[in-house]
Amino acid sequence: MPVRPACIWVRAAGGRYPLWIGAGLLRQAGRRLKRLRPRCRRLFVVSSPRVWSLWGAELTRGLRAAGLRVETLLMNDREERKRLATVESLAEELVRRGADRGALLAALGGGVVGDVTGFLAATYMRGVEYVQFPTTLVAQVDSAIGGKTGVNLAGGKNLVGAFHPPLAVLADPRALGTLPARDFRAGLHEVVKGAVIGDRELFRLLERRMPEVVAREPAALRQVVLRAVRLKARIVSRDEREQGLRRILNFGHTVGHALETLGRYQSLRHGEAVGYGMIVATRLSARLRRLPPASADRIIALVRSVGRLAPLPRLKPERIYAQLFADKKKQDAELRFVLPRGLGRAEVVGGIPRAAVLAALRELTAARR
Ligand SMILES: NC(=O)c1ccc[n+]([C@@H]2O[C@H](COP(=O)([O-])OP(=O)(O)OC[C@H]3O[C@@H](n4cnc5c(N)ncnc54)[C@H](O)[C@@H]3O)[C@@H](O)[C@H]2O)c1
Ligand SMILES: [Zn+2]
Repeated sequence: MPVRPACIWVRAAGGRYPLWIGAGLLRQAGRRLKRLRPRCRRLFVVSSPRVWSLWGAELTRGLRAAGLRVETLLMNDREERKRLATVESLAEELVRRGADRGALLAALGGGVVGDVTGFLAATYMRGVEYVQFPTTLVAQVDSAIGGKTGVNLAGGKNLVGAFHPPLAVLADPRALGTLPARDFRAGLHEVVKGAVIGDRELFRLLERRMPEVVAREPAALRQVVLRAVRLKARIVSRDEREQGLRRILNFGHTVGHALETLGRYQSLRHGEAVGYGMIVATRLSARLRRLPPASADRIIALVRSVGRLAPLPRLKPERIYAQLFADKKKQDAELRFVLPRGLGRAEVVGGIPRAAVLAALRELTAARR
């Protein structure tokens, strides 16, 4: 029996949008889009060659059946290509194909395709609508929700971007079936992140069912993904522009982004970098006596239960520390960390002594040898 898709509404300044999640949604996408935009005739789908070869046919069939013409724009979705140059060439391609201000775009892929397509939609002809078809775990539980779009600069991640909420998000968990194990696990780190910062129940669930989740057992996966999606939707609905609450979603990302940048986006997946970042932030929180050691141990054990993290690039703690200041999330040269306060609770803390951060980083880099 197919399970009916769940629908979660996400609030945004310009109105709320639906986030559907359920098996078979790619196939039904046409019908749902037609209901949202009955006059739409053409859909410009941005994807990567790999994702398109796996899921393009299924998506296209449903779109065509609903009377939509499908135009495909393929991009290289390596993190190094999440750059303005890619946005520019996609925009040129849209012009060549006659896309006007009424064009509807779609992202079929992971966070890279989603962030690029969202930014393209935010800026093309000063803004067009787009939908998200997230195909990775990171994209389904995190990046496709909340309207943050953008690209990287040589100096750091996501330094050029815009808030541009999608018209809808359609997440089909079946798409996760073709995801390489490493990418799937990387995504689980974002799920763990959600649990630590805001959902104690999810934390416990993951402690109990991680092996089934890692094995992508459908019932366990559905339960976990739904909870993670609900949490993210709740947070961005309350703070779309990241003026307060939403900042806690950056748990693990301060150090994570620095590791990604220093590794030139090649040595670690985003989620893996976040895994390392969560370990550092958790140790730091314990070191500052903001988190009981037993809770710190449980958090680190949960991060580790996702699987062996890819080896850390060879880096000095001081180098990582310096890179933290290139992160846009620091304000007025004050470094802020999201620190866990318990299982399912976190807060943003500024003014942390350099020595404490370095000590937590040292524990990490020492462990790599
Ligand atoms: N906008 C946000 O709020 C937000 C939040 C979190 C992460 N992000 C961004 O998301 C990006 C990471 O996204 P990601 O982890 O999805 O990585 P990704 O987009 O790089 O995808 C990972 C790999 O999986 C492949 N792939 C995608 N779907 C597949 C499928 N169904 N089957 C087989 N292969 C598939 C891709 O081709 C790629 O090689 C980062 O750039 C990060 O900054 C953004
Ligand atoms: Zn992330």
